[in-house]
Amino acid sequence: MTKTTPPSIIALDGPAASGKSTLGRTLADSLGYLFFDTGIMYRAVTWIALQHDMNLNDEAVITELAQKAQIDIRPPSKSDGRACDVVIGEKDVTWDMRGEDVDANVSVVSAYAGVRQALSEQQRRIGLRGKVVMVGRDIGTVVLPEADLKIYLDASAEERAKRRFDEIIARGEKADYDEILRKVVARDHIDSTRAVAPLRPADDAVIIDSDKMTAEQVVAQVMELCK
Ligand code: DC
Repeated sequence: MTKTTPPSIIALDGPAASGKSTLGRTLADSLGYLFFDTGIMYRAVTWIALQHDMNLNDEAVITELAQKAQIDIRPPSKSDGRACDVVIGEKDVTWDMRGEDVDANVSVVSAYAGVRQALSEQQRRIGLRGKVVMVGRDIGTVVLPEADLKIYLDASAEERAKRRFDEIIARGEKADYDEILRKVVARDHIDSTRAVAPLRPADDAVIIDSDKMTAEQVVAQVMELCK
């Protein structure tokens, strides 16, 4: 009997709140691979720019920032749901980067060609080491087109907004479904219509529509593809 090895480089793309991180973490844990959520890097650059009151519409300034920023990703120091620590200048900014102001501005920052080039190069260097599940929007199309397995995880905007809404309510916070839906649709629009590396499935990606699936069913389907 021939023994099969799982794919070494796994690219996992899809729109905001499609469940990529949950799937990617579970997959990486069960294969003993590195989980790398590339959205963190775009969020970190956005967060630094906001902290320093930089003009987010100034592409040259933001590109220079992306080229110079020292974004450190470390093993998780707390078990509060984080996959890793994100550290900038010795400050733990793991949750700051998930704030509303970053959410509202990150699509603008991630549409800049120079920003994408600077961050994609770093992502590619790490990804080529293998044994990695890399999550983002352009991993299968641009960052690691040679990935051994490409998954594009999709779900309707309504379903994704509902999942975000449920997450916030579960944390005991207030949420407005219509507002969340509006933001999801707006981010989809910017991510998929930008000139550089727009959100789209690679030609050889396996597309999974998770609308009527539980998280467990999605994991089971992808684990099957890894065999
Ligand atoms: O996955 P996320 O919501 O943390 O991503 C934040 C933003 O970064 C989102 O607007 C899309 C962008 N992004 C990107 O353009 N390319 C990636 N590889 C990852 C994220």
